[in-house]
Formats: sequence, C-alpha cells, structure tokens
Amino acid sequence: MTAPAPLLQVAQLVRHYPLPRTRLFHPPQQVQALQGVDFTVTAGRSLGIVGESGSGKSTLARLVMALDTPTAGTVHLLGRNLHTLPPAELRRARRDFQMVFQDPYGSLDPHHTVERIVAEPLRAQGQVGRAEQREQAAQVLTQVGLRSSDLGKYPHEFSGGQRQRIAIARALITRPRLIVADEPVSALDVSVQAQVLNLMQDLQQQFGVTYLLISHDLAVVNHLCDDVVVLYQGRIVERGTPQDLFYNAQHPYTRALVNAVPQIAPGRARARRTAAGSSAGIAR
Ligand SMILES: Nc1ncnc2c1ncn2[C@@H]1O[C@H](COP(=O)(O)OP(=O)(O)O)[C@@H](O)[C@H]1O
Ligand SMILES: [Mg+2]
Repeated sequence: MTAPAPLLQVAQLVRHYPLPRTRLFHPPQQVQALQGVDFTVTAGRSLGIVGESGSGKSTLARLVMALDTPTAGTVHLLGRNLHTLPPAELRRARRDFQMVFQDPYGSLDPHHTVERIVAEPLRAQGQVGRAEQREQAAQVLTQVGLRSSDLGKYPHEFSGGQRQRIAIARALITRPRLIVADEPVSALDVSVQAQVLNLMQDLQQQFGVTYLLISHDLAVVNHLCDDVVVLYQGRIVERGTPQDLFYNAQHPYTRALVNAVPQIAPGRARARRTAAGSSAGIAR
C-alpha cells in the first residue's frame, strides 16, 4: 500500500516578477521573489513560515492558494497539482484550502453583509442553497465567538479583532483541511492578537485544521506551529521545530529573529496543545 498523499507539497517553487523596462536597449529586469522553495506539510502538523519583509512570504501564500501562477515548480494539495487542474476542478478543490489575509479592513467587502461575506466560499462552490448557506454562516460565526445576530451587519460595525474573526469564519465555512494565514494578527492591537491566536488554536483542535501560518514574528509561529521554515530572499535558509530555532539557530538571519523576541518561552504553546489532547477528527 502506498502512503497517503501529504496535505501540501511544494516543490522547486520559483516566482519571478518582471520589472518595467527602464532603458530600451537593456534586458528586462526581474524580481526573484521565490528561488526554488521545497517543503511538505502533513495533516495535523502546522507549518510556520517566518522571514523579513520582502522575503517572498506573500508570494508563496498566493501560489499555494492558486491565486497566482508559478514561474516554475509545483504545488500539490492532497496529491492534486493545483496549477494544472481544470478550472471547474480547482473550484471544487478550493473547499479544502482557504485563506485568511493580513488586513481585516481591506479583505472584507464593506458593501456586503457578514452573511454574504462568510458564506462566499460556499456560494463559489455552488450546490448549496440560500437557506443552508445562512444556517452554516450562523453556525460558523458562533464557532469564532460572534453571534448569529451579527449576520445582517456590515464590516464597519466591528473592531479589527472581530473582523479577523469574520475572516476566519469565512475560511472555516467549507471545513477546509488547510488554512493559509498570511500575517493574520499583524494588523491587530497586541491585546487582541492573543485572543485571535487562541481562537485559531482552539479551531485547530476542534476541527483538525492544519495551518500554513506566515509571520515575521517567531512568537506568533511558536503559538500555533509544530515546524518552522525560515525564508530569506526567496529561499529557505533554515528549518526545524520552534525550539530548534530558539536554541540552536544556525543561520545569522534566524539568530537575529530569535534575538528580536527574547521575552517568550518556547514550547509552552505546544505543551498546552498536547495537554488538551488531540481530538482532531475532522468535522466535514
Ligand atoms: N506583483 C508583483 N510585482 C512585482 N514584484 C512583486 C510583486 N509581488 C511581490 N513582488 C516583490 O517580490 C518580493 C517578495 O514580496 P512578498 O512576497 O510580498 O514578500 P513578503 O510577503 O515576505 O514581504 C519583493 O521584492 C516584492 O517587491
Ligand atoms: Mg507579505
């Protein structure tokens, strides 16, 4: 018997962006945003991606979400090559992977009700009637700590932290296996960050969702992830558990990252997770 396909497999991923030609007789210049990235995420083992601004994190997220096309390389989700799937199959596959964006202000359409926003991934799937969409939206809202009476409200009626809960509800509504979260708490007040991270941790246990969590902050990654890769100028320069990176960082850039967060105690988040048990059966 062959082993089941990993949840996510990224191989030799390259993305170059052409720059506008500034001089007519010079060759066009390129930004080499990703220069050959490889990693595997197995179900139930969340992966953190850390790296400074401009290291290629958001480019990687967009490629994993099939919102952008690689220059070279592949992204397989549950064994399917996302970038070669026919459009109808990609649309169906999208129920298995959803995204939470950094900016809870820009990522929610201000003209739409919470019901419409949260149910959007279901609507994109087709096949789910209006009443059922509403019911599922109400359910998932309560799961992220909001109320079903919030369905008729608009994004401006909520705080930043509540908006990010709405974005998480939207990601959760198709019961995805993978959630890609690109700097999900960076735009929030420090006091609210922990609440949102705790919610994400609860959902991890409750629904068996696995995160690909992008952050410039090792403390955030330590909270939710079992493994970490360090991205530097479009390449992975180091990988390990959060503890490995805290106590045994090899790359100078990783050491600089660790020194920037001296106040946290690594491993506590994981101990809490383990103590709470792994009730990770996926509700689908
Ligand atoms: N659409 C684009 N066109 C041109 N360059 C881009 C584009 N998106 C990202 N880049 C460049 O690619 C590099 C990586 O960007 P990004 O993935 O946003 O990094 P990060 O999220 O780690 O800050 C940067 O140099 C950025 O300027
Ligand atoms: Mg980014």
